[in-house]
Amino acid sequence: MIRLVQGDRKRYMPLLLLADEQPEMVARYIDRGDMWVLTSKDASKDGVPAVAECLVTDEGAGVLEMKSLAVAPAHQGRGYGRALIEHVARTYAGRYRVLRVGTGDSPLTVPFYERCGFKRSHVVSHFFTDNYDHPIYEAGVQLVDMVYLVREL
Ligand SMILES: CC(C)(COP(=O)(O)OP(=O)(O)OC[C@H]1O[C@@H](n2cnc3c(N)ncnc32)[C@H](O)[C@@H]1OP(=O)(O)O)[C@@H](O)C(=O)NCCC(=O)NCCS
Repeated sequence: MIRLVQGDRKRYMPLLLLADEQPEMVARYIDRGDMWVLTSKDASKDGVPAVAECLVTDEGAGVLEMKSLAVAPAHQGRGYGRALIEHVARTYAGRYRVLRVGTGDSPLTVPFYERCGFKRSHVVSHFFTDNYDHPIYEAGVQLVDMVYLVREL
């Protein structure tokens, strides 16, 4: 089940920190836009409030941006990330021109988004080295630039 979060968004902080490990960066957008969570009976048995979450914000000029997308480690690789993207694409189609996402140039995320219909758009050089207070590593590679990908809605 996928639903819009109406109450406290901070209860999903463990998931938000999976997508973006620095709390000060998460604080920049946690209260913006719409937050969606995917829940399942399996997860609630473990006391986890959701299996996956994402946040989407209106960036103007018809651009909807996915600021955070995370699937709990035990539930990754089962189609939940794709399910959230498809839900967002269906829900906001007609109201926005494109769905945009920014991510590190990592083999764990860029191929996932490409598989879900996104295409590379542009790069913001040194985003991770300029904005984070410590080096961020993913799959053993230091993230330096932010890669933006877009999917038409
Ligand atoms: C990245 C993430 C959201 C993917 O979610 P997921 O539920 O594990 O992915 P799905 O099972 O929905 O995968 C969808 C498709 O992408 C493919 N895919 C997923 N990861 C991939 C990878 N690293 N390389 C290549 N393909 C990949 C899957 O094989 C699947 O393909 P198919 O549907 O054609 O068979 C999840 O792994 C995650 O939360 N990671 C940690 C947090 C994070 O990095 N978030 C992104 C921040 S920008």
